[in-house]
Amino acid sequence: MSVEGSVHRTEHVVRIRATRVGSRRPKVRFDPTPHGLVGPLLELAEVGPDDVVYDLGCGDGRIVIAAARDYGARGVGIDIDPILIDQARRAACDAGVADRVEFLQQDLYEADVRPASVVVLFLLPEANLLLRPRLLSELEPGARIVSYIHDMREWRPERTRHFVDRKGWHHRMFLWVVPPRSTPVSDLLDPSRYREGRA
Ligand SMILES: C[S@@+](CC[C@H](N)C(=O)[O-])C[C@H]1O[C@@H](n2cnc3c(N)ncnc32)[C@H](O)[C@@H]1O
Repeated sequence: MSVEGSVHRTEHVVRIRATRVGSRRPKVRFDPTPHGLVGPLLELAEVGPDDVVYDLGCGDGRIVIAAARDYGARGVGIDIDPILIDQARRAACDAGVADRVEFLQQDLYEADVRPASVVVLFLLPEANLLLRPRLLSELEPGARIVSYIHDMREWRPERTRHFVDRKGWHHRMFLWVVPPRSTPVSDLLDPSRYREGRA
């Protein structure tokens, strides 16, 4: 499947709409970020005490809890699965960060992400692309987005990190920074990042 970005400028908002990926919301199952990669993911986003970290599809809450416990941030985890939300709330109590994190049972595509200074994603490529226009237009310039494994196709990341674990598996993570509203779209997109047959 080939994907071409079509770009629409409005007065204040840059919207990038991915075509031919469809608007269907892909089903994403629970598959947690390995514990050993949670720290590197948060460090890639340079999370600190002034941050509000949103994990869209938070699973058992490990990323938001680590952001509060290890980096002093506040956090919001959003997941569709009530059992995982219960588990995350209990884990936050056990970790002593229940006063700094919140877990909401909600559809991540409907979530209000505007308060986030950092958004964490571990979803699917199609889900990242569906979220991309909203992240660009609703987050404040300077907000960071990190994604474990999946990129945002032709939206060029600021940084990419690769890890190889002890079993030889490769892990990728990406960082994007929401640009000022006035940024030309051509500065963001690199069509050569995505070619047919290449993710
Ligand atoms: C791959 S897991 C990632 C979990 C966690 N972010 C982590 O990295 O450990 C994806 C999570 O997204 C959740 N999810 C899938 N579709 C969702 C939706 N529409 N709204 C909210 N959560 C969703 C799943 O329940 C699952 O917990």
